[in-house]
Amino acid sequence: MSPASPIAILGTGSHAPARILNNDELSRLVDTSDEWIITRTGIRERRVAEGGETTATMAAGAGRAALADAGLSPHDIDLLIVATCTPDLPMPSTACLVQTALGVRERAACFDLNAACSGFVYALDQAWALLASGRYRHALVIGADKLTSAVDWTDRTTCVLFGDGAGAIVLGPARPGSDSRLIDAQLGAIPGTAELLSIPGGGASPATPEARRCITMKGKEVFKHAVRGMEEVARDLLARNGLTGAELACVVPHQANLRIIHALAQYLELPYERIFVNLERYGNTSAASIPLALDEARRSGRVKSGDLLLLVAFGAGLTYGGALVRW
Ligand code: UT7
Repeated sequence: MSPASPIAILGTGSHAPARILNNDELSRLVDTSDEWIITRTGIRERRVAEGGETTATMAAGAGRAALADAGLSPHDIDLLIVATCTPDLPMPSTACLVQTALGVRERAACFDLNAACSGFVYALDQAWALLASGRYRHALVIGADKLTSAVDWTDRTTCVLFGDGAGAIVLGPARPGSDSRLIDAQLGAIPGTAELLSIPGGGASPATPEARRCITMKGKEVFKHAVRGMEEVARDLLARNGLTGAELACVVPHQANLRIIHALAQYLELPYERIFVNLERYGNTSAASIPLALDEARRSGRVKSGDLLLLVAFGAGLTYGGALVRW
Protein backbone atom coordinates (compact mmCIF):
# COMPACT_ATOMS: atom_id res chain seq x y z
CA MET A 1 0.00 0.00 0.00
CA SER A 2 1.40 3.39 -0.88
CA PRO A 3 1.13 5.98 1.89
CA ALA A 4 -1.01 8.10 -0.43
CA SER A 5 -3.79 5.46 -0.76
CA PRO A 6 -7.07 6.68 0.69
CA ILE A 7 -8.03 4.96 3.94
CA ALA A 8 -11.69 4.07 4.42
CA ILE A 9 -14.03 2.48 6.93
CA LEU A 10 -14.52 -1.05 5.58
CA GLY A 11 -16.94 -2.36 8.21
CA THR A 12 -18.73 -1.50 11.45
CA GLY A 13 -20.00 -3.53 14.40
CA SER A 14 -21.34 -3.07 17.91
CA HIS A 15 -22.23 -4.96 21.03
CA ALA A 16 -24.51 -3.93 23.88
CA PRO A 17 -25.24 -5.98 27.01
CA ALA A 18 -28.71 -7.52 27.17
CA ARG A 19 -29.59 -6.12 30.61
CA ILE A 20 -31.67 -2.94 30.31
CA LEU A 21 -31.89 -0.51 33.22
CA ASN A 22 -34.71 1.98 32.68
CA ASN A 23 -35.39 5.31 34.37
CA ASP A 24 -38.18 3.91 36.56
CA GLU A 25 -35.80 1.33 38.03
CA LEU A 26 -33.26 4.09 38.72
CA SER A 27 -35.99 6.12 40.45
CA ARG A 28 -36.20 3.34 42.99
CA LEU A 29 -32.43 3.63 43.69
CA VAL A 30 -32.04 7.41 43.94
CA ASP A 31 -34.25 10.47 44.26
CA THR A 32 -34.94 11.01 40.57
CA SER A 33 -37.73 10.49 38.05
CA ASP A 34 -38.27 9.34 34.48
CA GLU A 35 -39.57 12.82 33.70
CA TRP A 36 -36.44 14.62 35.06
CA ILE A 37 -34.03 12.32 33.26
CA ILE A 38 -35.83 12.54 29.92
CA THR A 39 -36.30 16.32 30.10
CA ARG A 40 -32.71 17.11 31.13
CA THR A 41 -30.86 14.43 29.15
CA GLY A 42 -33.11 12.59 26.67
CA ILE A 43 -32.11 9.22 28.16
CA ARG A 44 -34.83 6.59 28.72
CA GLU A 45 -32.75 3.50 29.43
CA ARG A 46 -29.18 2.22 29.41
CA ARG A 47 -27.46 -1.17 29.21
CA VAL A 48 -25.54 -2.71 32.11
CA ALA A 49 -22.83 -5.35 31.70
CA GLU A 50 -23.37 -8.27 34.06
CA GLY A 51 -22.70 -11.99 34.43
CA GLY A 52 -19.04 -11.89 33.41
CA GLU A 53 -19.42 -9.26 30.71
CA THR A 54 -16.42 -6.92 30.73
CA THR A 55 -15.03 -4.13 28.61
CA ALA A 56 -12.91 -6.73 26.80
CA THR A 57 -15.79 -9.14 26.09
CA MET A 58 -17.97 -6.30 24.79
CA ALA A 59 -15.06 -5.00 22.70
CA ALA A 60 -14.48 -8.47 21.25
CA GLY A 61 -18.19 -8.76 20.36
CA ALA A 62 -18.12 -5.43 18.52
CA GLY A 63 -14.80 -6.26 16.83
CA ARG A 64 -16.08 -9.63 15.61
CA ALA A 65 -19.16 -7.98 14.10
CA ALA A 66 -17.06 -5.29 12.38
CA LEU A 67 -14.72 -7.90 10.87
CA ALA A 68 -17.69 -9.89 9.55
CA ASP A 69 -19.16 -6.72 8.09
CA ALA A 70 -15.86 -5.88 6.38
CA GLY A 71 -15.54 -9.45 5.07
CA LEU A 72 -12.10 -9.76 6.68
CA SER A 73 -10.60 -12.33 9.02
CA PRO A 74 -8.78 -11.57 12.31
CA HIS A 75 -5.57 -12.60 10.49
CA ASP A 76 -5.92 -9.56 8.24
CA ILE A 77 -5.60 -7.18 11.21
CA ASP A 78 -2.15 -5.84 12.03
CA LEU A 79 -3.21 -2.94 14.23
CA LEU A 80 -5.71 -3.23 17.09
CA ILE A 81 -6.58 -0.19 19.21
CA VAL A 82 -9.14 -0.23 22.01
CA ALA A 83 -10.24 3.21 23.18
CA THR A 84 -11.39 2.87 26.78
CA CYS A 85 -11.18 4.54 30.18
CA THR A 86 -12.49 1.41 31.93
CA PRO A 87 -9.98 -1.30 30.95
CA ASP A 88 -10.54 -4.71 32.56
CA LEU A 89 -7.09 -4.41 34.17
CA PRO A 90 -4.28 -1.83 34.48
CA MET A 91 -2.24 -4.36 32.48
CA PRO A 92 -2.25 -6.10 30.14
CA SER A 93 -4.17 -3.80 27.83
CA THR A 94 -7.75 -4.57 26.86
CA ALA A 95 -6.51 -4.71 23.26
CA CYS A 96 -4.32 -7.73 24.12
CA LEU A 97 -7.30 -9.49 25.70
CA VAL A 98 -9.34 -8.77 22.56
CA GLN A 99 -6.48 -9.99 20.36
CA THR A 100 -6.63 -13.40 22.05
CA ALA A 101 -10.44 -13.53 22.07
CA LEU A 102 -10.65 -12.81 18.34
CA GLY A 103 -7.56 -14.69 17.18
CA VAL A 104 -5.76 -11.63 15.83
CA ARG A 105 -2.26 -12.58 14.71
CA GLU A 106 0.92 -12.14 16.73
CA ARG A 107 2.46 -9.62 14.36
CA ALA A 108 -0.14 -7.01 15.22
CA ALA A 109 0.35 -3.89 17.32
CA CYS A 110 -2.20 -4.03 20.16
CA PHE A 111 -2.72 -1.20 22.61
CA ASP A 112 -5.29 0.81 24.55
CA LEU A 113 -5.86 4.52 24.21
CA ASN A 114 -7.55 6.69 26.83
CA ALA A 115 -9.19 9.93 25.85
CA ALA A 116 -12.38 9.09 27.78
CA CYS A 117 -15.52 9.80 25.73
CA SER A 118 -13.42 11.25 22.87
CA GLY A 119 -11.38 8.04 22.79
CA PHE A 120 -12.89 6.55 19.66
CA VAL A 121 -12.21 9.64 17.55
CA TYR A 122 -8.69 9.81 18.97
CA ALA A 123 -8.14 6.13 18.12
CA LEU A 124 -9.52 6.57 14.62
CA ASP A 125 -7.12 9.47 14.03
CA GLN A 126 -4.13 7.50 15.33
CA ALA A 127 -5.00 4.38 13.34
CA TRP A 128 -5.44 6.46 10.20
CA ALA A 129 -1.99 8.03 10.65
CA LEU A 130 -0.39 4.61 11.15
CA LEU A 131 -2.13 3.12 8.12
CA ALA A 132 -1.22 6.15 6.03
CA SER A 133 2.43 5.56 6.94
CA GLY A 134 2.21 2.38 4.88
CA ARG A 135 3.54 0.24 7.76
CA TYR A 136 0.14 -1.26 8.65
CA ARG A 137 -2.63 -2.41 6.34
CA HIS A 138 -5.83 -3.11 8.31
CA ALA A 139 -6.78 -1.67 11.69
CA LEU A 140 -9.50 -2.76 14.06
CA VAL A 141 -10.49 0.31 16.07
CA ILE A 142 -12.81 -0.32 18.99
CA GLY A 143 -14.46 2.00 21.51
CA ALA A 144 -15.59 0.10 24.61
CA ASP A 145 -16.48 1.16 28.13
CA LYS A 146 -18.12 -0.27 31.20
CA LEU A 147 -18.77 3.01 32.97
CA THR A 148 -21.40 1.47 35.23
CA SER A 149 -18.40 -0.05 37.06
CA ALA A 150 -17.34 3.51 37.98
CA VAL A 151 -20.75 4.91 38.85
CA ASP A 152 -21.73 5.91 42.37
CA TRP A 153 -25.25 4.47 42.49
CA THR A 154 -26.15 6.88 45.31
CA ASP A 155 -25.26 10.01 43.28
CA ARG A 156 -28.29 11.03 41.22
CA THR A 157 -26.31 13.74 39.39
CA THR A 158 -24.18 11.14 37.59
CA CYS A 159 -25.67 7.63 37.91
CA VAL A 160 -28.56 8.38 35.56
CA LEU A 161 -26.25 9.31 32.69
CA PHE A 162 -24.02 6.35 31.92
CA GLY A 163 -24.30 2.90 30.35
CA ASP A 164 -22.12 0.11 28.95
CA GLY A 165 -21.35 -0.98 25.39
CA ALA A 166 -18.86 -1.26 22.56
CA GLY A 167 -18.60 -0.28 18.92
CA ALA A 168 -15.94 -0.99 16.31
CA ILE A 169 -14.77 -0.18 12.81
CA VAL A 170 -12.30 -1.79 10.44
CA LEU A 171 -10.04 0.66 8.61
CA GLY A 172 -8.05 -0.19 5.51
CA PRO A 173 -7.28 0.80 1.93
CA ALA A 174 -10.40 2.07 0.18
CA ARG A 175 -11.95 -0.54 -2.12
CA PRO A 176 -11.18 -0.06 -5.82
CA GLY A 177 -13.75 2.14 -7.55
CA SER A 178 -15.09 3.47 -4.26
CA ASP A 179 -14.93 7.14 -3.28
CA SER A 180 -15.24 6.14 0.39
CA ARG A 181 -12.44 7.58 2.56
CA LEU A 182 -11.43 9.41 5.70
CA ILE A 183 -11.15 13.08 4.79
CA ASP A 184 -9.81 14.87 7.85
CA ALA A 185 -9.65 14.71 11.64
CA GLN A 186 -8.90 17.17 14.42
CA LEU A 187 -8.23 16.46 18.09
CA GLY A 188 -7.91 18.76 21.09
CA ALA A 189 -7.78 18.96 24.87
CA ILE A 190 -8.60 21.94 27.08
CA PRO A 191 -5.86 22.66 29.63
CA GLY A 192 -6.85 23.09 33.27
CA THR A 193 -10.17 21.24 33.07
CA ALA A 194 -9.17 17.85 34.54
CA GLU A 195 -11.26 18.25 37.68
CA LEU A 196 -14.51 18.94 35.86
CA LEU A 197 -14.97 15.27 35.01
CA SER A 198 -12.87 12.54 36.55
CA ILE A 199 -12.56 9.24 38.36
CA PRO A 200 -10.22 10.54 41.07
CA GLY A 201 -9.16 7.18 42.55
CA GLY A 202 -7.80 3.89 41.26
CA GLY A 203 -4.70 5.12 39.47
CA ALA A 204 -1.11 5.07 40.71
CA SER A 205 -1.30 8.43 42.48
CA PRO A 206 -1.18 8.24 46.31
CA ALA A 207 -4.54 7.23 47.76
CA THR A 208 -6.40 9.88 49.73
CA PRO A 209 -9.63 9.38 51.66
CA GLU A 210 -11.44 11.55 49.07
CA ALA A 211 -10.05 9.73 46.04
CA ARG A 212 -12.92 7.47 45.09
CA ARG A 213 -13.12 5.18 42.11
CA CYS A 214 -16.36 6.81 41.04
CA ILE A 215 -17.17 9.40 38.43
CA THR A 216 -17.35 12.95 39.75
CA MET A 217 -18.56 15.72 37.48
CA LYS A 218 -19.39 19.41 37.39
CA GLY A 219 -22.19 18.87 34.91
CA LYS A 220 -23.01 22.46 33.97
CA GLU A 221 -19.39 23.38 33.24
CA VAL A 222 -18.81 20.18 31.26
CA PHE A 223 -21.95 21.01 29.30
CA LYS A 224 -20.65 24.45 28.27
CA HIS A 225 -17.22 23.15 27.26
CA ALA A 226 -18.83 20.27 25.37
CA VAL A 227 -20.96 22.56 23.24
CA ARG A 228 -18.05 24.94 22.55
CA GLY A 229 -15.51 22.16 21.83
CA MET A 230 -17.79 20.25 19.45
CA GLU A 231 -18.89 23.42 17.64
CA GLU A 232 -15.33 24.62 17.18
CA VAL A 233 -13.99 21.34 15.91
CA ALA A 234 -16.93 21.00 13.50
CA ARG A 235 -16.40 24.54 12.25
CA ASP A 236 -12.63 24.05 11.74
CA LEU A 237 -13.01 20.74 9.95
CA LEU A 238 -15.65 22.05 7.56
CA ALA A 239 -13.84 25.33 6.87
CA ARG A 240 -10.45 23.88 6.11
CA ASN A 241 -11.98 21.35 3.72
CA GLY A 242 -14.08 23.96 1.91
CA LEU A 243 -17.33 22.36 3.08
CA THR A 244 -20.46 23.72 4.72
CA GLY A 245 -22.76 22.20 7.33
CA ALA A 246 -25.46 21.94 4.66
CA GLU A 247 -23.35 19.33 2.84
CA LEU A 248 -23.37 16.96 5.82
CA ALA A 249 -25.71 14.03 5.20
CA CYS A 250 -25.33 12.75 8.75
CA VAL A 251 -23.66 13.84 11.99
CA VAL A 252 -22.85 11.18 14.57
CA PRO A 253 -22.14 13.07 17.79
CA HIS A 254 -21.07 11.75 21.17
CA GLN A 255 -24.29 10.63 22.85
CA ALA A 256 -24.21 12.38 26.23
CA ASN A 257 -27.15 14.73 26.42
CA LEU A 258 -29.90 15.55 23.91
CA ARG A 259 -29.68 19.24 24.79
CA ILE A 260 -25.98 19.28 23.82
CA ILE A 261 -26.89 17.57 20.53
CA HIS A 262 -29.67 20.11 19.87
CA ALA A 263 -27.21 22.96 20.43
CA LEU A 264 -24.82 21.40 17.92
CA ALA A 265 -27.58 20.94 15.32
CA GLN A 266 -28.56 24.59 15.73
CA TYR A 267 -24.97 25.75 15.38
CA LEU A 268 -24.48 23.71 12.19
CA GLU A 269 -27.87 24.97 10.96
CA LEU A 270 -28.80 21.38 10.25
CA PRO A 271 -32.27 19.89 10.36
CA TYR A 272 -32.38 17.72 13.44
CA GLU A 273 -33.14 14.63 11.28
CA ARG A 274 -29.56 14.75 9.98
CA ILE A 275 -28.16 14.12 13.44
CA PHE A 276 -28.11 10.47 14.44
CA VAL A 277 -29.27 9.96 18.02
CA ASN A 278 -29.64 6.71 19.97
CA LEU A 279 -28.84 7.92 23.48
CA GLU A 280 -32.43 7.39 24.60
CA ARG A 281 -31.66 3.63 24.54
CA TYR A 282 -28.03 3.56 25.72
CA GLY A 283 -27.23 6.70 27.73
CA ASN A 284 -23.64 7.84 27.62
CA THR A 285 -21.44 4.84 26.78
CA SER A 286 -18.24 6.92 26.66
CA ALA A 287 -15.76 5.69 24.01
CA ALA A 288 -18.40 3.28 22.66
CA SER A 289 -20.93 5.99 22.00
CA ILE A 290 -19.91 7.09 18.48
CA PRO A 291 -19.02 3.68 16.96
CA LEU A 292 -22.19 2.16 18.45
CA ALA A 293 -24.28 4.96 16.95
CA LEU A 294 -22.39 4.79 13.64
CA ASP A 295 -23.06 1.06 13.38
CA GLU A 296 -26.78 1.58 14.04
CA ALA A 297 -26.93 4.51 11.62
CA ARG A 298 -25.38 2.46 8.86
CA ARG A 299 -27.37 -0.71 9.47
CA SER A 300 -30.64 1.25 9.61
CA GLY A 301 -29.93 2.86 6.22
CA ARG A 302 -29.32 6.36 7.60
CA VAL A 303 -25.85 6.38 6.04
CA LYS A 304 -25.48 5.69 2.35
CA SER A 305 -22.63 5.37 -0.09
CA GLY A 306 -21.22 8.80 -1.00
CA ASP A 307 -22.64 10.54 2.10
CA LEU A 308 -20.54 13.10 3.94
CA LEU A 309 -20.40 12.29 7.67
CA LEU A 310 -19.14 14.19 10.68
CA LEU A 311 -18.19 12.30 13.85
CA VAL A 312 -17.73 14.63 16.81
CA ALA A 313 -16.94 13.92 20.45
CA PHE A 314 -15.98 15.41 23.79
CA GLY A 315 -15.09 13.88 27.12
CA ALA A 316 -12.99 13.93 30.26
CA GLY A 317 -9.68 15.69 29.97
CA LEU A 318 -11.46 17.66 28.80
CA THR A 319 -10.82 16.29 25.34
CA TYR A 320 -12.64 16.73 22.08
CA GLY A 321 -12.26 15.57 18.49
CA GLY A 322 -13.93 15.28 15.14
CA ALA A 323 -13.56 13.42 11.88
CA LEU A 324 -14.99 13.95 8.41
CA VAL A 325 -15.74 10.79 6.47
CA ARG A 326 -16.92 10.17 2.92
CA TRP A 327 -18.98 6.98 3.14
O1 UT7 B 1 -19.22 12.52 28.18
C1 UT7 B 1 -19.27 13.68 28.96
C2 UT7 B 1 -20.17 13.40 30.10
N1 UT7 B 1 -20.77 14.50 30.73
C3 UT7 B 1 -21.77 15.25 30.24
O2 UT7 B 1 -22.15 15.18 29.13
C4 UT7 B 1 -22.42 16.14 31.21
C5 UT7 B 1 -22.91 17.43 30.64
N2 UT7 B 1 -23.87 18.00 31.56
C6 UT7 B 1 -25.14 17.60 31.57
O3 UT7 B 1 -25.54 16.77 30.80
C7 UT7 B 1 -26.08 18.28 32.54
O4 UT7 B 1 -25.40 19.33 33.21
C8 UT7 B 1 -26.69 17.31 33.57
C9 UT7 B 1 -27.70 16.39 32.86
C10 UT7 B 1 -25.63 16.50 34.24
C11 UT7 B 1 -27.47 18.09 34.62
O5 UT7 B 1 -28.46 18.91 34.01
P1 UT7 B 1 -28.60 20.43 34.45
O6 UT7 B 1 -29.72 20.99 33.69
O7 UT7 B 1 -27.26 21.07 34.31
O8 UT7 B 1 -29.04 20.28 35.96
P2 UT7 B 1 -28.37 20.88 37.27
O9 UT7 B 1 -27.09 20.20 37.57
O10 UT7 B 1 -28.37 22.37 37.20
O11 UT7 B 1 -29.42 20.45 38.36
C12 UT7 B 1 -30.73 21.06 38.40
C13 UT7 B 1 -31.47 20.49 39.60
C14 UT7 B 1 -30.66 20.54 40.88
O12 UT7 B 1 -31.57 20.77 41.95
P3 UT7 B 1 -31.70 22.24 42.58
O13 UT7 B 1 -30.33 22.58 43.09
O14 UT7 B 1 -32.13 23.13 41.46
O15 UT7 B 1 -32.73 22.05 43.64
C15 UT7 B 1 -30.13 19.13 41.00
O16 UT7 B 1 -29.89 18.76 42.35
O17 UT7 B 1 -31.75 19.10 39.34
C16 UT7 B 1 -31.27 18.31 40.43
N3 UT7 B 1 -30.87 17.04 39.93
C17 UT7 B 1 -31.71 16.01 39.78
N4 UT7 B 1 -33.03 15.90 40.06
C18 UT7 B 1 -33.61 14.72 39.77
C19 UT7 B 1 -29.64 16.65 39.48
N5 UT7 B 1 -29.69 15.38 39.07
C20 UT7 B 1 -30.97 14.96 39.24
C21 UT7 B 1 -31.63 13.76 38.98
N6 UT7 B 1 -32.95 13.68 39.25
N7 UT7 B 1 -31.01 12.69 38.45
